[in-house]
Amino acid sequence: MNLTLKIWRQKGPEDKGGMVTYKVTDISEHMSFLEMMDVLNESLVAKDEEPVAFDHDCREGICGMCSLHINGESHGPDKGITTCQLHMRMFKDGETITIEPWRANAFPVIKDLIVDRMAFERIQQAGGFISVNTSGNTQDANAIPISKHSADLSMDAASCIGCGACVATCKNSSAMLFVAAKVSQFALLPQGKIEAADRVKNMVTQMDLEGFGNCTNTGACEVECPKGISIENIARMNREYLRATL
Ligand code: SF4
Ligand code: FES
Repeated sequence: MNLTLKIWRQKGPEDKGGMVTYKVTDISEHMSFLEMMDVLNESLVAKDEEPVAFDHDCREGICGMCSLHINGESHGPDKGITTCQLHMRMFKDGETITIEPWRANAFPVIKDLIVDRMAFERIQQAGGFISVNTSGNTQDANAIPISKHSADLSMDAASCIGCGACVATCKNSSAMLFVAAKVSQFALLPQGKIEAADRVKNMVTQMDLEGFGNCTNTGACEVECPKGISIENIARMNREYLRATL
């Protein structure tokens, strides 16, 4: 495939930035999207030009580092996948592809397509820890009864990889789906109930401090989330928050 790429280039946080057009040729439909970006960067390096900076690590949908807004969609046109799992067969020969970083005030651009997602880390830090008695009489985890339903819901929530696609796709740049997943994974289990009230209050407070917008129930976050995190988690977080503050 031969493709035209319109890519956001920005030298640093203070740079105004803008779209730059590139051509790539002989792209295999079996390549991943990031491999196609590698081809572009190799050609730029060969011409002594600055390669395009983009985030990636595991390249298998686990770490949440890859974060491209492709043709107006977080993680591109496929569903239930991260950018690194997107394949070029989703595009047509001759197509023009627009590639931008996540757009949100709370995720400032560091360079080109890389944004600073430390706001997510600070929210998780605000959530703190869970109490586990390790003084020698620790209760066997298998001896704590947990219903299959709660365990499944908790595991589903825990599958959030912190990629930020929910924020990038939300018209309000809301982080509610991410925070709700982190609150829910603990709130659903007995081990997480001891600090539950402080956890939800502190995480929501930090979320607001970071400048994320509010949720208006559009549901775009759930659609674009690569891990299928349900917005039911947002309802659970709101219930947890109300209970904690009343
Ligand atoms: S909720 Fe989904 S989209 Fe949001 S950070 Fe977690 S995995 Fe990514
Ligand atoms: S690079 Fe790890 S999820 Fe994409």
